[in-house]
Amino acid sequence: MVQHTKTGVALVGSGSAHLPIAVTNDDLSQVVETSDEWIATRTGIRQRYIATQQESLVSLATSAGTAALEMSNTQPTDVDLIILATSTPDDLFGSAAQVQANLGASHAVAFDLTAACSGFLFALVTAAQYMRTGVYKTVLVIGADVLSRWTDWSDRRTCVLFGDGAGAVVLKASDRDRLLGFDLRSDGTLNGCLNLPYQADSQALTSDKTVQKGTYQPVTMNGKEVYRFAVKRVPEIIEKALFHAGLSTDGIDWLLLHQANQRILDAVAERLNVPKDRVISNMGRHGNTSAASIPLALDEAVRDGRIKAGDVIASSGFGAGLSWGAAIFEWG
Ligand code: UT7
Repeated sequence: MVQHTKTGVALVGSGSAHLPIAVTNDDLSQVVETSDEWIATRTGIRQRYIATQQESLVSLATSAGTAALEMSNTQPTDVDLIILATSTPDDLFGSAAQVQANLGASHAVAFDLTAACSGFLFALVTAAQYMRTGVYKTVLVIGADVLSRWTDWSDRRTCVLFGDGAGAVVLKASDRDRLLGFDLRSDGTLNGCLNLPYQADSQALTSDKTVQKGTYQPVTMNGKEVYRFAVKRVPEIIEKALFHAGLSTDGIDWLLLHQANQRILDAVAERLNVPKDRVISNMGRHGNTSAASIPLALDEAVRDGRIKAGDVIASSGFGAGLSWGAAIFEWG
């Protein structure tokens, strides 16, 4: 294994998948007892994109990865590592290797990482560890989810929240480390607040032995508990990551949170004293796309010129596990 001398991390390209089908709040009011007014006021969501029969987790992740490689002028064969953050793989054995094959990243090792809505942040920090040790110098981190597959379309408390999507970033080895600080946390005692659980019945295998046979059940969530958790824990962990970075909130250009609910984004920004025009939100168009939400919002803001090279971004992911994390990084 060749060790590289540049052991800093630079975030040099982003990409996202474009889905053709948007489901509006009015569409959903034909499915469950809800309204555009309720959904928009309580969450900020107006529509969300849903994967079609022609799309898969792998195809969305591949599109996002391709766009990120193009932006950063990276050849697929130069990629050393692909981390695919997802909780909705096409294959429970992992979908990352199929993405690696589709991209033609023939020298890359690829694996899935599951941490729900914190997945992208956890994957970014994991990738940085491989780079800081000098093992890998070009890494593709993808966040992708197709939660529509696991949504209970008769449950108005959850079905209005989620959308499908994929986003990606390319990391390259650099003399100067642009991942300025991070912190990651888990609390399994709160696991029951947000689940997509496997449930099985026993099936006789032999006269005296049984096996389990079942499937995953749709997403269930205690919205109020998760809301309380997010509003308390997210500002705390961003403060910790800022401390590790030797920065205060004055030193950040953008607050980029997992897009779960506009009210959560507003409450966290208020606690941290970040002005509203510094908070990145695409809630209205995409809803909550789980592991995709941070790289998707990042990519949109980079491509429309809001985020520029040298901007410092405070980012936080949070959700099932429960899990949460924050990273402070400089773009470009
Ligand atoms: O990515 C993972 C992280 N997830 C999150 O961060 C989600 C965090 N939680 C939330 O965003 C919010 O709790 C929700 C948006 C999920 C719910 O908002 P809320 O203000 O906490 O509403 P609630 O659950 O307290 O429900 C208030 C009322 C209830 O009616 P009653 O019992 O007061 O008569 C619900 O049945 O609103 C009702 N309700 C709805 N009404 C119309 C719940 N969902 C809907 C709906 N349309 N879609």
